[in-house]
Amino acid sequence: MKAIVVQKYGSPDLLELKDVDKPAVEDDGVLVRVRAASVNPADWYGVAGRPYVARIAVGLLKPKSDRLGIDFAGTVEAVGKDITEFRPGDEVFGGRSGAFAEYVCVRNAVVLRPANLTPEQAAAVPVAALTALQGLRDKGQIQPGQKVLINGASGGVGTFAVQIAKALGAEVTGVCSTRNVDLVRSIGADHVIDYTREDFTRSGRRYDLMFDVAGSRSWSECKRILNPQATLVIVGAPKGGRLMGPLSHIVRVRLAALRSSRKVVWFIAKMNKPDMAVLRDLLQARKVTPVIDRRYKLSEVPDALRYLGEGHAQGKIIITV
Ligand SMILES: NC(=O)c1ccc[n+]([C@@H]2O[C@H](COP(=O)([O-])OP(=O)(O)OC[C@H]3O[C@@H](n4cnc5c(N)ncnc54)[C@H](OP(=O)(O)O)[C@@H]3O)[C@@H](O)[C@H]2O)c1
Repeated sequence: MKAIVVQKYGSPDLLELKDVDKPAVEDDGVLVRVRAASVNPADWYGVAGRPYVARIAVGLLKPKSDRLGIDFAGTVEAVGKDITEFRPGDEVFGGRSGAFAEYVCVRNAVVLRPANLTPEQAAAVPVAALTALQGLRDKGQIQPGQKVLINGASGGVGTFAVQIAKALGAEVTGVCSTRNVDLVRSIGADHVIDYTREDFTRSGRRYDLMFDVAGSRSWSECKRILNPQATLVIVGAPKGGRLMGPLSHIVRVRLAALRSSRKVVWFIAKMNKPDMAVLRDLLQARKVTPVIDRRYKLSEVPDALRYLGEGHAQGKIIITV
């Protein structure tokens, strides 16, 4: 089968579309013929090997795994002998490393694709929507009626965060640039702030929860708009330096907020089946609809990563397989 292979750190130019062995079906696994995948900043870190601190997880001198991609949607081709939930022919979506390939064998994080979603829409979901769900629900403890601000509302995570926060009953304010104002309003934000025209930290409005995907503001700026018992959930941050990357912003904010009554939380989303099922239900009920920016072919993964690296995607970037 064909798969995108990464053998050393560097730029996306080093990625190759190669013939590799098709994965075997494990007893507790499901073999899926991938029909679509999507790109995440985590893939970008795996290619660049930067920030260097990320190499603790992905491999010190060269990538531990030569395969790339996480999010996929596709058709079950075969199931292991312990699997009772799926049958060949089922349409599924989920997360598994090595998704930029014609086949993946997946164990846990896979669920049936709702009939109202195309494979491309479903492939947009796993990492970005799980991040939004876990960040808002578990880390932010979002409650109906709360005022929630989403800084970075127009990208992969942000477009899911706006819709999930609305589905959970919050009053949502989305922050984005001028060209994305209509998009963010169209997915349900009650208020939209164009960060190129208005400084939301000087608006005088206060929030119970700030979900910070962009990480574009300091703690003293964020603090101004947070109620005394509010929570700041840090999701992402600018690329930062070679050593620490986005972590330097996260450490700075957490240290600065140590003595505040407001809570600051940073987390890394975890792929798991119960939360994939929650997302499937939200998608099926049409409370959440994936926003797709561009589509690329499997051979064009390097172009997709370069575009993602520019940091201004409007929703998710899809790989059609
Ligand atoms: N903690 C976790 O588990 C986790 C999981 C997934 C992703 N992340 C992190 O979350 C971040 C975003 O991921 P993503 O997949 O959503 O990326 P993405 O699709 O590339 O989206 C980036 C978005 O950020 C917006 N943006 C850029 N500068 C901004 C600013 N100054 N103010 C407000 N918005 C701004 C862009 O909108 P404009 O074009 O309008 O500027 C763009 O829509 C990354 O740092 C990623 O590493 C963390």
